[in-house]
Amino acid sequence: MTRYADFYRRSIDQPDAFWAEQAQLIDWHKPFDRVCNNDNPPFAHWFEGGQTNLCHNAVDRHLKDRARQPALICVSTETGLEKTYSFAELHAEVQRMAASLRTLGVQKGDRVLIYMPMVAEAAFAMLACARLGAIHCVVFGGFASGSLASRIDDATPKVIVSADAGSRGGKVVPYKPLLDEAIRLSSHKPAAVLLTDRQLAPMDLVAGRDQLWNDLRAQHMDASVPCEWLDSTAISYTIYTSGTTGKPKGVQRDTGGYAVALAASMKHIFDCRAGETYFSTSDIGWVVGHSYIIYGPLIAGMATLMYEGLPTRGLDLQPDGGIWWRLVEKYKVTAMFSAPTAVRVLKKQDPALLTQYDLSSLRALYLAGEPLDEPTARWISEGLKVPIIDNYWQTESGWPILTIANGVEKKDSRFGSPGIPMYGYKVKLLHESTGEELTQPNEKGVVVLEGPTPPGFMQTVWRDDERFVNTYWKSVPGKMVYSTFDWGIRDEDGYYFILGRTDDVINVAGHRLGTREIEESISGHSGVAEVAVVGVADALKGQVAMAFVVPKDSSVLQDSAGALKLEGEIMKCVDQDLGALARPSRVRFVSVLPKTRSGKMLRRAIQAVCEGRDAGDLTTMDDPAALQQIRDLMNTG
Ligand code: PRX
Repeated sequence: MTRYADFYRRSIDQPDAFWAEQAQLIDWHKPFDRVCNNDNPPFAHWFEGGQTNLCHNAVDRHLKDRARQPALICVSTETGLEKTYSFAELHAEVQRMAASLRTLGVQKGDRVLIYMPMVAEAAFAMLACARLGAIHCVVFGGFASGSLASRIDDATPKVIVSADAGSRGGKVVPYKPLLDEAIRLSSHKPAAVLLTDRQLAPMDLVAGRDQLWNDLRAQHMDASVPCEWLDSTAISYTIYTSGTTGKPKGVQRDTGGYAVALAASMKHIFDCRAGETYFSTSDIGWVVGHSYIIYGPLIAGMATLMYEGLPTRGLDLQPDGGIWWRLVEKYKVTAMFSAPTAVRVLKKQDPALLTQYDLSSLRALYLAGEPLDEPTARWISEGLKVPIIDNYWQTESGWPILTIANGVEKKDSRFGSPGIPMYGYKVKLLHESTGEELTQPNEKGVVVLEGPTPPGFMQTVWRDDERFVNTYWKSVPGKMVYSTFDWGIRDEDGYYFILGRTDDVINVAGHRLGTREIEESISGHSGVAEVAVVGVADALKGQVAMAFVVPKDSSVLQDSAGALKLEGEIMKCVDQDLGALARPSRVRFVSVLPKTRSGKMLRRAIQAVCEGRDAGDLTTMDDPAALQQIRDLMNTG
């Protein structure tokens, strides 16, 4: 077995040779001329001159050897549906979807926005876009009209693919009215909307615009739509993520580099083989869903289990805290991917549920998206008796930055640490203000990456190269390095520990949210003069959002019934605008917000006070009583 240290060194010292070898893991229609073009940093172009297609690599190329093998297993504990598509069946459905999208005018380079629950049609739509060379923009189904409208305006999709409804814990969430409202709010209007009717909620169809998937599918049952051969550097998709400003960024990804990065990660990091089953509990609306529900496992020739529902309900729609383990047994899952929050939810269930099923197929459980606390890691590790592998990455990177590459060399995980830098990533820690590289163990700094970033990494911000460079590559003065905006330390053995964000991004139950977006939504309420939103530590969700509002009418400060009413209204405002996910756990009212003398909001100090920590050096503070008000509020509960 190769030593990981040597494997990693080669990826850094001989990147062209290393990645040319990894590129053999996928099919190329035309071989590439150049492995990495980094002539114009920070824009790295991978596998220039090569042509390939993500859908071909995920579906078509497996038809020769595994046409009858399961490819997509859909399980919904919301509707009770359980259905398996073989690679041949998936191929047929994707072609029907591709033909339908083509009928609606979709061509290479067009955007298709996908706003869908976790149903097979969402996977068909993503793969059909890849097949046609259309750029998909999946928007998480938990987002509401305001978020959706801003994404429609940024992506300017020709077609939107959606459904009548999603469902959560048995409660139907109609999507169509949210979508209609978003289209009403947006300046860009899609030419067509393609709708899956799950018969969960009634739908009003807009004549001339809305089409039913069932109708179009029936017209294209025997469709044969060949894969469009795309330049390796052609855009495969964009996915929106939150940052410091209120405007979400469209993280843009290429085609060839992404396919190679995923194929390599399936082998070296997830240690998986064709014919096995992969189960990621994420959602297609997040990057984990793109990389490890749809593309990664399929490119590797594995069956992928796509799950709709909570981890605590069974296929009979009754409570069942063992459903995930039941599925591991039934489908002989070999690798499972989830988030620490999900494990913390399961921790409240009967521990016997972990030993009731035959989990012998499972080789490891991978957890990502938020810090993995030691008690949670220990609990699940002792229960499952398989390695629990933390992995740290971002929407921007597309695949793990820090973890353990068990497919290269088996190593033990270290509790509290996601691991060591993955091949291709030049990870450094820099001093927050001087930008000096920190070389001593256990010094806290900002986690950065030196360019060129590896294949699969974001190409740029959709339609905004300047924002890409200014946001990510210019945050450290005098140095062009990519900032992750995370704090970290490294121990004497090179293991990293992630200590939270350096910016205004919060992480609620593994979902990345921008506090500025929430603030903008709250500012939309007519009773709000000023607002600050911070993330506060939470035992179950990791963090929750908490809002501090200066009301326009100061009498609210003395009127608890009035305050409660306004709090409810503000929460509803966020629900309707962004979605329940972004709803603050509490809205508290204050007469003034803590700021510096120059007017900068002291969010870190507010957060510290909320968590009962020392608020740090506040000598630049305008009005110290402002922070005291928040402290008093927190103490009164
Ligand atoms: O702050 C880090 C945290 O989540 C952020 C990225 O979130 P997102 O773009 O949604 O991508 C998630 C991909 C798995 C990071 O900047 N984060 C992610 N993984 C971890 C983590 N924090 C600690 N430990 C992790 N394993």
